[in-house]
Amino acid sequence: MNYQEFFEQEIDKIKEEGRYRVFANVKRITGSFPKAIVQMNGISKEATLWCSNDYLGMGHNADVLEEMSRVILSSGSGAGGTRNISGTTPYHTLLEEELAKWHKCDSALVFTSGYVANETTLSTLASKIPECIVLSDALNHASMIEGISHSRARKFIFRHNDMDHLKSFLDQIPKYQPKIIAVESVYSMEGDVAPLDEILDLARKYQALTYVDEVHAVGMYGDDGAGKIHEMNLDGEFDLIQGTLGKAIGCIGGYIAGGKSIVDFVRSFSPGFIFTTALPPAITSGALKSIQILKNASDLRAVHQEAVTQTKQALSKAGLPFLDHYTHIIPFIIGDAAKCKEISKTLFQEFGIYVQPINYPTVPKGSERFRITPTPYHTKEDIDHLVKALSLLMKEL
Ligand SMILES: Cc1ncc(COP(=O)(O)O)c(C=O)c1O
Repeated sequence: MNYQEFFEQEIDKIKEEGRYRVFANVKRITGSFPKAIVQMNGISKEATLWCSNDYLGMGHNADVLEEMSRVILSSGSGAGGTRNISGTTPYHTLLEEELAKWHKCDSALVFTSGYVANETTLSTLASKIPECIVLSDALNHASMIEGISHSRARKFIFRHNDMDHLKSFLDQIPKYQPKIIAVESVYSMEGDVAPLDEILDLARKYQALTYVDEVHAVGMYGDDGAGKIHEMNLDGEFDLIQGTLGKAIGCIGGYIAGGKSIVDFVRSFSPGFIFTTALPPAITSGALKSIQILKNASDLRAVHQEAVTQTKQALSKAGLPFLDHYTHIIPFIIGDAAKCKEISKTLFQEFGIYVQPINYPTVPKGSERFRITPTPYHTKEDIDHLVKALSLLMKEL
C-alpha cells in the first residue's frame, strides 16, 4: 500500500467537503474573558469568544488560580504515577469525596478526561457484566459510543429522546437479562434535555442500570449546581452519573459518581482508569476549589441564564434561526459545511467574533451549525454586536 497517498487522499476528501479542521489559536488572557487573542488564517487580533465551554468563566476565577498556584508550588507539576503507583494525592481523594457529596452518591472516581470516563466506564461495564445489552440514545457523545462499541456488547440505538422507541427495544429483551440505558442529561449539540423521569420509570420496570452523562449540566443547574438530576429532584435515583471537570468547572478531567460497589468495580477493572498517569495535583485541587465555589454560585448561574435569555431574545427579534430547548446551549443552524466555515471566517475577520463551525461527524451532514454559548461575562453590547453581525452575514448568504 502507498500509505502516504492513502493519507493524502483521505485528507483531500474532507477538504473538498469543506470539513477539514483548521484550529484557531486562542490565547485566553486572565481577566479579559470572554475576550481573547485569536489567530486564524494568518490574522491575529482580539475577539469575543462565543463558543467556549468554560461556561461560567471558572477557568479564570482568582480563587481557583490561587489554589492551583499554591499546589503547583508545594506539590509539583505532575502526579508522578498512575493512581495505583504513587499517583494518588490527598487532592485526588478530597476531590472524589467532594464529587460524591455533590451528587448525593456514596463514591466518585476521577479520570483524566470526561471522554476517558465515558469510554472506559461504559466499555468495562458492558463487557464485564455477563450478557449485557446497552440501550443508547442516538445522539450520545462519541466517547459513549466508543465505549459501547469497544465493549462488543449487543446494543440498541433508540431515536433521540424517543421513549416509545426505547420501550420497544426493552420489550424485546428478557426482563432478567442485564441491560444499561445510557443517555446525556443536556445534549451537547442540540442543547435539549433528556426525559430523565421517564427513563427512570422504564429502567425500574425493565430492571436496567442507568448511566447519565451530565457533562453539560454540572456546575450549571440546580440550587447547588450539581446538574439536571439534582434540579429535577432525582438525586440518588440513577446508578451512575458521569461528568467533566473541563467545562463549567474550568479545569480538566472527568469523573463518575454512584453507589459504592459499582464505582469500586470500575476502579478495579477499567483500563482507562488503571493504566494511565493520574491528573496533576494542582488540577485536582483547582477543580475541588471550583466546585466548592460553584456550590454557592446561584447568583453567577442567574446572571448566566440572563445572558442566555437576552441572546435568544435578540436572535429571535432579528428573525435568525436557532433552536431553543431552554438550556444555555444555542444551536444556530447553517446547514452547509462550507458556508458555516465562511461565516465563521468573516465573523472573525470583520467583526472580531470567534465562533467555531461545527461540522460532520460532530453533527449530521446538512445540520452544520454554530453552537453559541453565552457566559455571565458577555455584555449587552457583545450580544447586540453578535446579532448584528449574524444578521448581516445571513442576509448576504
Ligand atoms: C456530552 C459529552 N460527554 C463527554 C465529553 C468529553 O468530556 P471532556 O471534554 O472532559 O473529555 C464531551 C466533550 O465535549 C461531551 O460533550
